[in-house]
Amino acid sequence: MKKDIKVLICLFFILILIGGLLYFKTNIFSNNPPSSLPNDEEILLEKGVHLVSKESFVNDANTLLEKGYSADEINQIYEYMSEGNIKAILEHDYEDLSNFYQISNFDFLKLDRYKAYQMIENISFSDAVTRVNLKLDLPFYSEIEKASDVDSILVIVNKVYSLPSDYVPNDLVAIPSFPNLQIREVAKDDFEKLLAAATIDQVYLTPYSTYRSYDYQDGLYQKYLKEDPVEVVDTYSARPGHSEHQTGLAIDIKSNSHWYNLTESDYEWMKNNSFKYGFIIRYPKDNSFITGYKEEPWHIRYIGVEHATKLHELGITYDEYFDIYLKDSMNN
Ligand code: DAL
Ligand code: ZN
Repeated sequence: MKKDIKVLICLFFILILIGGLLYFKTNIFSNNPPSSLPNDEEILLEKGVHLVSKESFVNDANTLLEKGYSADEINQIYEYMSEGNIKAILEHDYEDLSNFYQISNFDFLKLDRYKAYQMIENISFSDAVTRVNLKLDLPFYSEIEKASDVDSILVIVNKVYSLPSDYVPNDLVAIPSFPNLQIREVAKDDFEKLLAAATIDQVYLTPYSTYRSYDYQDGLYQKYLKEDPVEVVDTYSARPGHSEHQTGLAIDIKSNSHWYNLTESDYEWMKNNSFKYGFIIRYPKDNSFITGYKEEPWHIRYIGVEHATKLHELGITYDEYFDIYLKDSMNN
C-alpha cells in the first residue's frame, strides 16, 4: 500500500514535469506565442504603413506592397490621391508618382501624357497635369465632350466642352438698360452693378453682344469662314456649340468711344474691378495657347463673385481654374 502511494506520487510529479516542459516549449522558447499573434493591421503598422479606416484597406495596402510601393509611398497615395486614382493604381504596375502626389487634378490614367508633355514643354508637373487635362497636348477640337451642369453659372464651354444645339438657358431676361440684349437673370443684377460702378469711375461702357443661340453662332462662324481660313477663324470665333455666348453668361462690352473694343484705360478698369461683380476676363492676353483664342478684352463672363475673386487673385484662365477647382464637383 505504501509502495502504491509512492508510485502515485512519483507519477504525479512526472506528469507535472511533462506539463511544465510542454509549457516551456510552447510559451517560453517560441517567438510567436499563440495567444498574441500580430494581426494583418499590426504587420502593416510595423512596416510603417499608416492605417486607413476603409474596408479593403489591408488587402489593398498589401497589393501595393507587392507591386513594389514603399510604406511611405502608400501613405502618400492614401493622403493625397482620389478614390479613382487609388483604384487605377491598384490595377496597374508600379509607377513612380513622387512628382504628382499633391496635385489635386492629377489623373493616374493620363500619367504617360503628363510626363511627355512636361518634358517637351519644360513646365512644372502641376501645369503639365492641368494642360493635359485641358487636352492641350492634342489639336484643338480633336476630342469633344458634352458640358455637364449646363445651367450652372460655372458651366465650362470651350474647345473641349460643348453645349447641345438645342440648349437655351431657361432664365433669359432683357438687360433693363439695354432691352435688345438678353442675359441670364442670375447675372443681371451684378451686371447692372458693374455698369453703375464703372459710370461712377467715369468709365462709360456699352454691351453689344450677349446671349447668342446655337444657330446664330453657326451663322456667324460660317460668315467668318467666307472671310478667313478655318485656322484663323478658330482664333477669334467659337464653333457653334462651343461659344460661351450660348450660356447667356457672356457679354461683349465696349467703350462708348469705340466700335467694338475697350480703350486701354477702360480695360484696366475692367481687369481691376469686374471680379467684384462676378465677371472675369475670359480670354486674356498671352493665354491663347490655353484658351485657343486671341486676346479679347471685350468678352467678359459671369461666374459669381466668390469664384471671380479667387480667379482674379490666382491670375489664371477659367479653363485652368475649372480643371483645378471645379471639375470634380461638376461631374465633368
Ligand atoms: N469670340 C468668342 C470666342 C466666341 O465666339 O464665343
Ligand atoms: Zn464674346
